[in-house]
Amino acid sequence: MTEPFDKPGLLADMAPASSFRMRLQSHAADIRQLFDGLYAGHPAHAAAFQRLEEALVRAHLERPARLVARDEAKLDRGHWFLSQDIAGMSLYVDRFCGSLSALPGRLDYFSELGVNLLHLMPVFESPEGESDGGYAVSDFRRVDPRFGTLADLQSLQSDMQDRGMYLMLDIVLNHTSHHHEWARRARAGDERCQAFYHMFPDRSLPDAYEASMPEVFPESSPGNFTWLPECGRWVMTVFHSYQWDLNYRNPDVFVSMLENVLFYANLGVDILRIDAPAFIWKEPGTSCQNLPQAHALLRLLRLCVATSAPGMAILGEAIVAPRDIMEYFGTGAFTARECDIAYNATHMALQWDALATADTRVMLAAQSEILRKPFGTTWINYVRCHDDIGLGYDDHMIREAGYDPYAHRSFLKEYYSGTFPGSPARGALFSVNPRTGDARISGSLASLCGLEAALATGEAGAVETALRRISLMHAHCLFLGGVPMLFQGDELGTINDYSYLSDPGKSYDNRWLHRPITDWEISERRHFEGSVEHRVFSDLSRLIRLRRGLAMVADHGNLHWMRPHNRHVAGYVRAHDGRVLYGIFNFGRDEAWLTWYAFREHGHLPSTLTDHWTGTRFTCGPDHEHLIIPPYGFHLMEAG
Ligand code: GLC
Ligand code: GLC
Repeated sequence: MTEPFDKPGLLADMAPASSFRMRLQSHAADIRQLFDGLYAGHPAHAAAFQRLEEALVRAHLERPARLVARDEAKLDRGHWFLSQDIAGMSLYVDRFCGSLSALPGRLDYFSELGVNLLHLMPVFESPEGESDGGYAVSDFRRVDPRFGTLADLQSLQSDMQDRGMYLMLDIVLNHTSHHHEWARRARAGDERCQAFYHMFPDRSLPDAYEASMPEVFPESSPGNFTWLPECGRWVMTVFHSYQWDLNYRNPDVFVSMLENVLFYANLGVDILRIDAPAFIWKEPGTSCQNLPQAHALLRLLRLCVATSAPGMAILGEAIVAPRDIMEYFGTGAFTARECDIAYNATHMALQWDALATADTRVMLAAQSEILRKPFGTTWINYVRCHDDIGLGYDDHMIREAGYDPYAHRSFLKEYYSGTFPGSPARGALFSVNPRTGDARISGSLASLCGLEAALATGEAGAVETALRRISLMHAHCLFLGGVPMLFQGDELGTINDYSYLSDPGKSYDNRWLHRPITDWEISERRHFEGSVEHRVFSDLSRLIRLRRGLAMVADHGNLHWMRPHNRHVAGYVRAHDGRVLYGIFNFGRDEAWLTWYAFREHGHLPSTLTDHWTGTRFTCGPDHEHLIIPPYGFHLMEAG
């Protein structure tokens, strides 16, 4: 194709050598090909493509100059999001500080902690009451008055940019709220809007789909379709019945959502979190997850963003099986050209596995899969987020460690829901599926680590153990390479919040257990030595600062796992530019011994090791001597 975007007038005033025009040219053929691959036979194909072209040019023309400058700076740096300089936190604006206009006044808090990336949980309009925490969007462009206004969001972004901070927002791509204008019109019989969703007059197709589709929320929202008496249609609702799945077989849906994506880009979003991308394409006879067309849509979307807003990275929230997650980084000719970032959901869950079992072998068995991530892409590494913990890693990983997968998962569920005898964890089972026996786990970091139970007994030893477990979990995750993402409340060791039970919009969903409201008086205790809040906050901020100073911790594709000489201990080596860091983590409740040989079998021969965490300098002993790691202790040791 020569000049695919040469509609008269579209590029008329633009210098041929402008960087936008050059990006357009280099991406045009792929954009066209992906679009045609998805939509060639569709009657709206040609008109939709024209809208797409116009959207790209318009987004570029409307992009504020300060964002264009930021794009250029990021392009100069290359893969800016691989840096060890970035540390993030996810938070609910209302639950954190009330409103968007109050957030600029709280930015010092993040500087104190070392956080420079904020993931604001959905702030665009969603119905009061049942909104799945804002993931049921009724207007993609209007900030919900509960949080403030678009102007508040813009002024927050500009304050953040001035401070060198990064902003992450969601686009809820898979579905809209049943209150969205498209949904309202569809319900009233508007056929154009009905074609935005998966709607059926009878059960024949829904039944065909159901035969192979799993359920996401089997307890609170069984089935994948909802009957609409007003228009006599079944509508596909994979998540809750008030979240209607968009139909991406319709190119108008894609282009409309692309326009929303570009709108967010021009608000100054640095990382766009694509919510639930695994679900965006449906095909009867399949699980309707991870389909090739879903990947094609993401590739197309990323190319469009790379053309008009090249500074915005794409994060795919694909919480699926380990092998399936990897595919979101792109495959074949699109390797490293799909999502820039994905959630390291496998590792997140495996850290919890290691903590409960005091055995790191299942976690290690998964690493060969996780390490297949292509260079130039990275992970969000996290210990907790606003969602549940799913135990979706493969059975063979559990078997390799010598456990029976069914019994192993049953143990984990009992352990974290606190029913296993002696378990210090206080979580809850989420989305129990009585048919399959599946369940996931809710609960705050601190409660799952035993702090809630320990505080209830008041036993100092138990509190200390819980605090050590919390810092171990944070440290292990922070030095893996990738963007660490903390979750609101976890920086203070906040325990479960049971108040959701008295709110009918939330009581059916125990993920609210671990979505606390920040209490700023309690948060002040972070300044008082001896308090839980002080311990968790100061450990965490020290870890983040340490990380920032260690260039080998950036994601250079340089994560190497040490051989498991001791099943309680997980160790990794991060070497870059002549510097070598060993991260050593004891997931066991007793002292663990690790042979010094472990430090010599990965191509480095350190004679001394300086532990940045404890300040201790160790001399590497002979093979038959050991490093002794305290219970739930860790070392961040640099060679030399
Ligand atoms: C994502 C969100 C989750 C939400 C779901 C449906 O997985 O993280 O909170 O329930 O999408 O939008
Ligand atoms: C499922 C989905 C994931 C979502 C979660 C919410 O695991 O795959 O996208 O975050 O449910 O609980």
